[in-house]
Amino acid sequence: MSHRRRTIGVAMALLAGATLPLIAQTPPGDPRPIERGQKTFVTTCSFCHGTRANGGQGGPDLLRSVLVLDDNHGDKIGPVILNGRPGAGMPKFSLAPSQISDIADFLHNSIHAAAERGGYQILNIVTGNAKAGQAYFDGAGKCATCHSVAGDLKGIGSKHDPAALQGMILMPRGDHRGQSARTGSTALTVTVTLASGRTFSGALEAIDDFSVALRDSKGEYHSFTRNGDVPAVEVNDPLKVHSDMLTRYTDADIHNLLAYLVTLK
Ligand code: HEC
Ligand code: HEC
Repeated sequence: MSHRRRTIGVAMALLAGATLPLIAQTPPGDPRPIERGQKTFVTTCSFCHGTRANGGQGGPDLLRSVLVLDDNHGDKIGPVILNGRPGAGMPKFSLAPSQISDIADFLHNSIHAAAERGGYQILNIVTGNAKAGQAYFDGAGKCATCHSVAGDLKGIGSKHDPAALQGMILMPRGDHRGQSARTGSTALTVTVTLASGRTFSGALEAIDDFSVALRDSKGEYHSFTRNGDVPAVEVNDPLKVHSDMLTRYTDADIHNLLAYLVTLK
């Protein structure tokens, strides 16, 4: 669905832009580029390629990709990231050269680790302070206004590995677990206002440049032809708070939150 892709593209761009620190030159062999690359990868790419880059529902396994194997510091991966593969399901991302080379380092390190140990070893990304994470969760982060560690997030630390958890904090829609449709409390809703002023609201069923369809609370299906701004269409995303939070997170907040969430066994 083209709309979905576009929405995702925007969310990705937002994610990429909002959470990435400025990158300083570091000596070769430094683990930091790999960690940074992993972080960028988890927030920007894991949605389709999996948190371990070994393939997701939407994107291929990059640890077995000949293109990635052939890559030298991003020379092959870079063009794919910057141009995307329009039509094949890969959006383009405007990442800085340093971010691309970090991702390349992360992918090469992952391939290396997989080859060496016969199993992929995830880097230790749990470097934060759990107490500070708890304080942020209950306080400034406002997480506790929607979540409860005794309720919906109970045991989340034993259900998912840290990398997946980090992805969930940053991008909680069902999508990071595949392309599963968003239903229930996370479904997108839409309000359509006709030229006459009459409005229809409900769960968004489909949308593109030419039409929009929704199912109202009585279960009735309505579909409308779109012509520019007529009718007015307003899509509401219950997870918008999560994407909005990204602009407020510091790296330390994310690390601390993650350290806290992994303790929720
Ligand atoms: C919305 C899903 C999606 C996202 C997000 C995404 N990709 Fe992809 N990616 C794909 C798909 C689908 C393909 C396969 C395209 C094709 O068949 O040519 C692909 C292909 C690739 C390839 C080429 C692999 C090969 O062997 O040809 C690379 C490298 C790659 N992606 C890296 C990334 C990186 C790095 C990111 C994050 C910056 C990213 N992708 C984000 C869906 C995605
Ligand atoms: C305004 C409400 C709201 C706030 C504030 C909020 N979240 Fe969420 N969060 C959601 C919704 C809605 C979901 C999707 C739940 C679902 O998939 O059923 C979600 C999902 C998640 C998930 C994935 C849970 C799962 O099992 O899939 C995690 C982890 C999470 N949030 C962490 C946080 C953290 C950490 C904070 C604070 C920094 C936070 N959230 C703040 C509404 C919120």
